[in-house]
Amino acid sequence: MSRKPIIAGNWKLNKNLKEVKEFIAKIDGKLPAEDKVDVAIAAPALYLVSMVQERGNNPLKVAAENVYFENSGAFTGEIAPAMLAAEGIEYSIIGHSERREYFHETDGDINKKAKALIEAGVTPILCCGETLETFEAGKTAEWVSAQIEAGLAGIDGKDVANMVIAYEPIWAIGTGKTATAEIADETCGVVRSTVEKLYGKEVAEAVRIQYGGSVKPETVAELMSKENIDGALVGGASLEADSFLGLLEIY
Ligand code: G3P
Repeated sequence: MSRKPIIAGNWKLNKNLKEVKEFIAKIDGKLPAEDKVDVAIAAPALYLVSMVQERGNNPLKVAAENVYFENSGAFTGEIAPAMLAAEGIEYSIIGHSERREYFHETDGDINKKAKALIEAGVTPILCCGETLETFEAGKTAEWVSAQIEAGLAGIDGKDVANMVIAYEPIWAIGTGKTATAEIADETCGVVRSTVEKLYGKEVAEAVRIQYGGSVKPETVAELMSKENIDGALVGGASLEADSFLGLLEIY
């Protein structure tokens, strides 16, 4: 089965509104055709509505970097899946390692977020990935499988088939140290086998699995040529329009 690739930027805590608008003006008319690749940018919540307005007819999908799992109520500071859906935001990252580490998000929270997003019609980008210590101990496969199993608990196979999973080894994030394409492919393969064990071959063949961690325009082609890698989740190299467009040149 051929899966449509998805290249997504993750701007994290960067940019002001003027810079967001300048970025979108710079990529105007330059994105590859939508039938070849899905292109998305995850940005701070404050900018998402403007991005939907500014993108015009460009095939740019907009993503939240995080979301809550309730749709309304006394949850000061949170943003709901239904709010994202109502404003035309197509994706939300959940379970990024920075949220797990600095904001103490658990697999249980992330699972609730995945379910709430699916219910609202927003596609989750579920992140997983191991520390350097786990990698060096040779325990990557069991760590990542456990994260995926916990993140997907109780979700229907038809919904998993439409989700995106991002494998991001923590030791490769923002370090300039990209996992080799072989390592990235092998662990994305572990993610796919875990999905197969839980949901069967059809769902495993359909789910899109991204690699993230110091992906650059120079490294993207080799990574994307691998069997189990269906896209990239890119931090640093997504911040400048030229570099972001460079990630898409292969399409
Ligand atoms: O979510 C993207 C990410 O964590 C990777 O960041 O800067 O290593 O591409 P970066």
